Amino acid sequence: MVSETVTHSPEQTLATGRQLASEFHPPCLVILEGELGSGKTTLAKGIVAGLGAAREEAVSSPTFTLVHEYGNATKVYHVDLYRIEDAGDLATLGLEEIMNEKAVVLVEWGERFAKILPVPDFHIKLEHLGLEDRRITVQAAKSASSRPVAALE
Ligand SMILES: Nc1ncnc2c1ncn2[C@@H]1O[C@H](COP(=O)(O)OP(=O)(O)OP(=O)(O)O)[C@@H](O)[C@H]1O
Ligand SMILES: [Mg+2]
Repeated sequence: MVSETVTHSPEQTLATGRQLASEFHPPCLVILEGELGSGKTTLAKGIVAGLGAAREEAVSSPTFTLVHEYGNATKVYHVDLYRIEDAGDLATLGLEEIMNEKAVVLVEWGERFAKILPVPDFHIKLEHLGLEDRRITVQAAKSASSRPVAALE
């Protein structure tokens, strides 16, 4: 299943994230792919808010902290692998435990480690079309429930 939408402002991308959230049932791995400034973190804010895990204003980029955790009833991890260089670096993040939790896991730059990470339930691509225009393409795995949660071990 593939769906595509074009947003014309950060607010519209936030709204798209809030809508998408209703499709993410934990455990759920979501890869966010797109060049710098394409809106991955903006979309993640909407998703975290849509899941009721935190307010949009409370969600910040994990560029330097690498992993942020939100929520109680619905737990959300927001991960940024931009600064992760190799599998050794990746192993330091404790993603195995995170992926085995009943959580929604959002991974910016996750496509860089597609061979190591479990097959995602959703792969979202963000593309610059113009100053404030972004194409957001959402691809759902064929059978989201068959994700091998122990694939990192
Ligand atoms: N339609 C839009 N959707 C999302 N962001 C937009 C849009 N139009 C403009 N922007 C701006 O683009 C920037 C997107 O930044 P954001 O941090 O979400 O991107 P990112 O993909 O996470 O970047 P990085 O790779 O550095 O983590 C913000 O400054 C935002 O205001
Ligand atoms: Mg970001």
